Amino acid sequence: MGDTDRYLIGDAAEELRQLGSESAAVVCLDDAWARPKRGDAFGVEYPTHGFEETAEILSACREVLKPGGWLIADADDWLLPKLLDYLTENWGNAAETYQNGYRKVGGVTLTSSSGEPDRSTPGMYGSTGGYPVVFAHKGETDRRWSESARQIARRPQDRYGWGSVKPVAPYEAWIESITDLDERVVVPCAGTAPAAIAAERLGREWVAIDCEPEAREAYRRRRENELGSDEQSTLGSVTA
Ligand SMILES: C[S@@+](CC[C@H](N)C(=O)[O-])C[C@H]1O[C@@H](n2cnc3c(N)ncnc32)[C@H](O)[C@@H]1O
Repeated sequence: MGDTDRYLIGDAAEELRQLGSESAAVVCLDDAWARPKRGDAFGVEYPTHGFEETAEILSACREVLKPGGWLIADADDWLLPKLLDYLTENWGNAAETYQNGYRKVGGVTLTSSSGEPDRSTPGMYGSTGGYPVVFAHKGETDRRWSESARQIARRPQDRYGWGSVKPVAPYEAWIESITDLDERVVVPCAGTAPAAIAAERLGREWVAIDCEPEAREAYRRRRENELGSDEQSTLGSVTA
């Protein structure tokens, strides 16, 4: 399968439904949720949507996951409370049952190329210096992992002509911990698809989805630049 076949262009919820239920071990979602005034600001030029559509995508993510599979969902300060409410209501709350649903909030702290915490996030009320990441699983899971849910990674130097470009390394750490070699990683709302690049590095099968053909072009530029290179750094190499 070529990368074009694995990077589908279409609506995330619809394409996820086509993939078939229980076909993925992990779904990595960096949803294009629109916080107020987000569109056309902060480098966000791609289409965004309200939480209703996010909920539809989350429901399709759950369907595509195998029992015990994990959702890894990037968030921001605006999305996080809505996402947690949605997941605890619809997937369950592992903190209550120790069995299913929302399990924990991790995150990524971004550093500049010198390894210092990144303070370049625009805003007058403090830099977020990274983003929260929510972890939830479908039903009970025996996929236990000891990798940190909080990662430190270098802010990608290149945006590849796209927005909200995330580092590859945290996905690589998480996907390696949670999946077996023969399992599939699905990446809806993929953009430059760092999770797909991580999956490919790890030899996992992957499928990415974005509604914009230009996103796939951006992914191709990124893949060419990053696969085989060591541009992204994990905590160990950032602090070395
Ligand atoms: C937050 S960005 C993802 C950026 C990505 N994490 C990266 O590092 O490049 C969200 C992506 O979702 C896409 N998108 C928006 N609505 C969508 C939909 N309904 N179905 C599929 N993709 C969608 C946008 O085109 C955008 O590329």
